[in-house]
Amino acid sequence: MRIYKAKDYYDLSRKAANIISAQVIMKPDCVLGLATGSSPIGTYKQLIDWYNKGDLDFSSVRTVNLDEYKGLTKDNDQSYYYFMYNNFFKYININMANTNIPDGTEPDSQKECDRYNKVIADLGGIDLQLLGLGHNGHIGFNEPDAAFEKVTHCVDLTPSTIEANKRFFATIDDVPKQAYTMGIKTIMQAKKILLIVSGEDKAQILRDVLYGPVTPHVPASILQLHNDVTLVADEAALSKCDF
Ligand code: F6R
Repeated sequence: MRIYKAKDYYDLSRKAANIISAQVIMKPDCVLGLATGSSPIGTYKQLIDWYNKGDLDFSSVRTVNLDEYKGLTKDNDQSYYYFMYNNFFKYININMANTNIPDGTEPDSQKECDRYNKVIADLGGIDLQLLGLGHNGHIGFNEPDAAFEKVTHCVDLTPSTIEANKRFFATIDDVPKQAYTMGIKTIMQAKKILLIVSGEDKAQILRDVLYGPVTPHVPASILQLHNDVTLVADEAALSKCDF
């Protein structure tokens, strides 16, 4: 694992955007695995900025997002479709037909998971997967569990994830209780992984991820076994690591 220490969130975002830019420049029709949440917002802003300056062309890029809440429509401002469109896609020249996000409105979990697995397989896998890190060590919505789930599946969100997400909803009862998520095997099959982590509140879990045992109880710990992971974390997030 390559570890880059950033001064702060802004620095982290620029470093992460540089890595994604390099991927897009070197393979214009690459498959980017994308994430939502607060971690990648600055990265997307920076990419938009470079696109506006003429440095980046997304016209041939294909994307697959990690996850989506089950039950939310695309126009719900808390859906991950809405997030991706309004924080990234609408500002760049990506072909929306080349973007993929699990369909939160599909009530048949098996059907949607099978469809999404096929989408990823038909794309030929993921060239670069961007990941944020949950406070409980989750990646995508792969929550701590007794075993790693391999491919796209429907998860019951843990109380800690529901709690962390409630800031985005009017009340905790409005937070969806289930989500569709890419599985650990699919994430691990990405050719390259870019993990971005910011803030002191992630320092302990990041330490567990990097130095603890590889266990499904800390899902991101599996990344220790991937041979091309780049971690960009700010000083606060790395404050409990000897780095
Ligand atoms: C989002 C996702 C989640 C987040 C994680 C960290 O698509 O898959 O795993 O990356 O919950 O969220 P933030 O960045 O908001 O701290």
